Amino acid sequence: MSRLDGQVAIVTGAAQGIGRKIAEGLAGVGARVVVADVQAADEVANSLGGMAVAVDVSDQAGCERMAQATIDSYGRIDVLVNNAGIWSSLEPTPFDHLSVDEWKRVFDVNVLGMYLATRAVAPFMRQAGRGRIINLSSGTPYKGVPFFLHYVTSKGAVIAMTRALAKELGADNVLVNTIAPGFTLSDGVLHNPVQLEQLQDVSAKARVLVRDQYPEDIVGAVLFFAGEESSFITGQSLVVDGGAHFN
Ligand SMILES: NC(=O)c1ccc[n+]([C@@H]2O[C@H](COP(=O)([O-])OP(=O)(O)OC[C@H]3O[C@@H](n4cnc5c(N)ncnc54)[C@H](O)[C@@H]3O)[C@@H](O)[C@H]2O)c1
Repeated sequence: MSRLDGQVAIVTGAAQGIGRKIAEGLAGVGARVVVADVQAADEVANSLGGMAVAVDVSDQAGCERMAQATIDSYGRIDVLVNNAGIWSSLEPTPFDHLSVDEWKRVFDVNVLGMYLATRAVAPFMRQAGRGRIINLSSGTPYKGVPFFLHYVTSKGAVIAMTRALAKELGADNVLVNTIAPGFTLSDGVLHNPVQLEQLQDVSAKARVLVRDQYPEDIVGAVLFFAGEESSFITGQSLVVDGGAHFN
């Protein structure tokens, strides 16, 4: 796997869960990491020798400040991992009982937030003539998982956004790809007893590799899409779920 010495990676939602493990993985191959989160992240950033930035990705000015703070401190942005998302706080709900406010919040963070973070870093990547954008989708739009229609639809939008953005940014050598994890025992999920009871066993049993999925399982795919090995791959979605769904 490529070393990312000298490179700078922003990981949104990296204070805990999948994002934290991704940040650790990127730091482990030499990147300077910006831990961008709506919750306090100084401790995580310090442990990685990186920098914490407070941001709500659904806020345009906040995303612009995140990008500028990275440039001010490190002078470049090589990788953006759009990981921040609303999932672990959601409970299974029939589609016709979902609250419209919750639907809007899920889309504000999972779709608009991804767009705004991308938009904020794109000028710097374009100027540099290189960049990697890695978007966290989910296995749910592939499987059509019921009772989370807002979430599943938002993660389907991430796949569509990845494809169209890859076409707009390809000329600038900015590559855009998606990783779609299966049900993962992240920090957030471990605090949601309803998700654990309803999804943990059924997800593990649906896999070819019959075991629970952990945040660490996603890190290798991120390092691949951030590194030189994937320099001719863009607009793609990689499902990382132990073989529950085949593309
Ligand atoms: N855990 C799973 O089963 C699973 C499966 C597939 C995809 N995913 C996706 O992976 C990503 C991470 O999920 P997780 O399970 O690690 O979640 P988590 O709840 O453990 O962590 C999410 C992190 O994102 C941050 N965050 C939330 N809203 C934010 C905002 N508006 N701005 C900035 N930061 C914000 C939170 O503070 C938290 O640190 C999400 O995009 C999720 O949809 C998770």
